[in-house]
Amino acid sequence: MKQNIYDNPEFFHQYKALRQKTSNYNRLLEQPTMKSLLPPLLNLQILDIGCGMGEFAKYCIDHHAKHVTALDVSSNMLTIAQLENAHPQIDYQLQAIEDYEVAAHRFDCITSSLSLHYVKDFEAVIGQIARMLSPDGVFIFSVEHPIATSRKTMEDNWIYDTQGYRLHYAMDHYQEEGLRQQTWLVDGVVKYHRTIATMINTLIDHGLSIDKIVEPIPSKEAIQQLPSIEKELRRPSFLFIKAKK
Ligand SMILES: C[S@@+](CC[C@H](N)C(=O)[O-])C[C@H]1O[C@@H](n2cnc3c(N)ncnc32)[C@H](O)[C@@H]1O
Repeated sequence: MKQNIYDNPEFFHQYKALRQKTSNYNRLLEQPTMKSLLPPLLNLQILDIGCGMGEFAKYCIDHHAKHVTALDVSSNMLTIAQLENAHPQIDYQLQAIEDYEVAAHRFDCITSSLSLHYVKDFEAVIGQIARMLSPDGVFIFSVEHPIATSRKTMEDNWIYDTQGYRLHYAMDHYQEEGLRQQTWLVDGVVKYHRTIATMINTLIDHGLSIDKIVEPIPSKEAIQQLPSIEKELRRPSFLFIKAKK
């Protein structure tokens, strides 16, 4: 069964508060990296998977994309997207990517920010994505880094000394892929851990070639705005892969 944690009222309340902060990981690290990997958007047909509140879909239209199909499984997220980021060239659809059907070669660019670690059958979804991409199409996605999703007891992976100083980051069970249950905002959030090799080889097996891999580090300005983000210099939270058909 597909999880839809963003429609859990308590989770959503906390997530919304996190996203509304002027300094957060999305604004300072994830979104700038995603935008830096985009091709010129002029006239492109875009699919954004797990579009959330629609800021990125709106960004694409503001940067001259022709049309964005923006999918999300959460009606809470799409309600905000429709309120704050509606546009005649954006089609928001309440839809899990696993159930989305469309003609082959429909999109020039497919993006997904931090949604594919919620997908159980990565292989099937990458197959769909490869099919939906036009020849020379681009697929760019970010996920929580496998370093961060690997452990089975994921409360806080940092190991501290008695003064509370971060000694090092713990990683375990890396090779054991599959479901992880985590307390993040609420208990029982389900994510799927998979290795970097699995992700890359799945893309290759579906005829995509790897263009770039990014493990983003924060800028000096980002660290000034949000000092806690400095720990990204010690281990990455996010993994980006850009692939081409
Ligand atoms: C961390 S949020 C990111 C939202 C948005 N991409 C952004 O960066 O602001 C992950 C989003 O993925 C959506 N999602 C999770 N599983 C999904 C699925 N199987 N199909 C479509 N959307 C999904 C969630 O509902 C949520 O809106």
